[in-house]
Amino acid sequence: MLGAPMDAYRARVCAGLSGDVLELGFGSGRNLAHLPVDVKRVLAVEPSEVGTSLAANRIAASDIPVEFVGRSGEELALENESVDHVLVTWTLCTIPDVARALSEVRRLLKPGGTLHFIEHGRSPDPETARWQDRLNPLWGRLFGGCHLDRSIDELVRNSGLVLRDVKMYSMSRERKARLQGLSFEESLAHSPDGTSTGGTLERLGRVTSELAGFAYEGVAEKLA
Ligand SMILES: C[S@@+](CC[C@H](N)C(=O)[O-])C[C@H]1O[C@@H](n2cnc3c(N)ncnc32)[C@H](O)[C@@H]1O
Repeated sequence: MLGAPMDAYRARVCAGLSGDVLELGFGSGRNLAHLPVDVKRVLAVEPSEVGTSLAANRIAASDIPVEFVGRSGEELALENESVDHVLVTWTLCTIPDVARALSEVRRLLKPGGTLHFIEHGRSPDPETARWQDRLNPLWGRLFGGCHLDRSIDELVRNSGLVLRDVKMYSMSRERKARLQGLSFEESLAHSPDGTSTGGTLERLGRVTSELAGFAYEGVAEKLA
């Protein structure tokens, strides 16, 4: 997920992070510039060497030290309850055993610690979800194992973390509303998550824009 248009999403998701932050799918380090000054260290997990080499300049430019602690979110050699927060952006779609990775997140978070996430996933619109299911195998082959149809809220809840403040919305509708001058909160009101309505063209537009553009954004807490 590239470029300046994504900065507003990254900034929102990074708000409130502090202390030692574990980031799953660190990629090329695009969240680094959005981390609050209270973050003391990033513990980065990234399997791709291309990603980590692309991150080098961002790491050098950041005041926050970055330590690579593993290549797979499913299994990390870190102590139980050793991190303050976990950050994950557009990565839960790609991790092969996502339930296992989320159970690692729960193991590693200190009590009261939180997972901050923004992901794309399964649309609540049945017509779009059917297309997500159909296209999933091909999509995964084309885009490095990315899944279109994961219900991120359900996965997070099933890990035993408690969801706080989850927002689910169509990114294209939300972005359009925001370009018209609405705030993020106001723009969500323009992003209904009901079923398909309208004519064929309108429904086609919805299916294509939500295939990989239905967002799950929020915070989940590990209770003490
Ligand atoms: C779409 S990219 C997102 C990168 C970054 N989080 C961002 O927001 O730009 C998905 C990332 O997940 C990483 N990834 C894939 N499998 C993973 C795994 N098992 N554990 C952790 N990260 C993984 C990929 O290498 C890639 O960097």
